[in-house]
Formats: sequence, structure tokens, C-alpha cells
Amino acid sequence: MLELGAGCGLPGLLLGKLGASKVVLTDMAQCVELLQDNIDDNELQACACAAALDWTSAGDLEAVTRAHGCEFDLVLAADTVYAPELVRPFHSLLLHFCTAPGTRVYFSAPRPRVQQATDAFFDLVRGPDSYFDVVKVPSSSYIAAAPASATATVDGNQGIFILTRKPVPKQLST
Ligand SMILES: C[S@@+](CC[C@H](N)C(=O)[O-])C[C@H]1O[C@@H](n2cnc3c(N)ncnc32)[C@H](O)[C@@H]1O
Repeated sequence: MLELGAGCGLPGLLLGKLGASKVVLTDMAQCVELLQDNIDDNELQACACAAALDWTSAGDLEAVTRAHGCEFDLVLAADTVYAPELVRPFHSLLLHFCTAPGTRVYFSAPRPRVQQATDAFFDLVRGPDSYFDVVKVPSSSYIAAAPASATATVDGNQGIFILTRKPVPKQLST
């Protein structure tokens, strides 16, 4: 699996602990040392690695693709979409790494940080030409006893979502 904007890498590290065979944790170059330290501290060197992947960098994209390919069965992205100018590069990256139909993205938008960015992202992934099927995970499945104030934060485009890559339509021959 591939984690984008991993920060300290908690979800990916947890999947490594749970038995994922390959975990690639990515973020900006300045976060890679922290990610590698967390891999080492959790003794996950056999299955996990850290790499720089700035969503706006063609060089980073090429390096990660060269090292790990672009066929992941799972992509994690937690609290990554909050800057409007990064929505399109981030979406392009998802398409790049979700090549096979059925590839899943676990995507969370935990709070209305910049609503405009989250809404622009969902316009892309839910639009008529979308490459993904989008399902929102019911908040009752991860908030045990949700107080009224908590349910307000998972309305609309906030919460946890599963995006599944649709099959690519066959090209019509002429
Ligand atoms: C709010 S933090 C979330 C971190 C982590 N996923 C979590 O949930 O704790 C957003 C992350 O996105 C990363 N990020 C922001 N812009 C980025 C970019 N252009 N390319 C790659 N990562 C970026 C930041 O470095 C940061 O680690």
C-alpha cells in the first residue's frame, strides 16, 4: 500500500504491524527522516519504506514510480486536501497510482479546514467523468457514541470515504 501526505505515518505503520506485505510512506522531503525513524522504531524495515513525494514534483513522482511501480492495491490519504491549489495535482497523483480497476483509496477529511478545497476535490471524484466510485463510511462505525457536536463534523464532505477505481472504458476503434 501507498500512503500520501503521511505525516508521522501512523495509518501505514499500523497496516505494516497488521501484516501488509509492502508499505510505502510518502510526504514532503523534510518529513522522510521522521517517517524512516518511525519505521525503524517500530521494526518495520522488512515491509515498510519512506520516500519523498511532493504532489507537485514530476521528479518525485518519477522516482517513486521507478522504485515501487504504480500498481498499489490500497492508497491511504488522511487529512491531505486543504489547499485549493493542490487539489488537481493530488487528484492526478491518485489516478497515477490507482491504475488497476478496483484499487481503493481510503480518504479522510476530518474537519472543515478549507471547505473550498474539500468541495473541489469531491467535485472531481464525484463528477460525471469521475474515475472513482465514492462511498462514505457511516460515522456510526467509527464514532462509538457520537455527541451531537461530533456528528456535525462528519456531515457532507467531511468524514471517511472509500474511493474505488472504476474500470477504464475500452477505446472505440474507428
Ligand atoms: C494535516 S497533515 C496530515 C498528516 C497525516 N496524514 C495525518 O493524518 O496525521 C497534511 C500532510 O500533507 C503533507 N503535504 C502537504 N502538501 C504536500 C505536498 N504538496 N506534497 C506532499 N505532501 C504534502 C504535509 O507535509 C502533511 O504531512
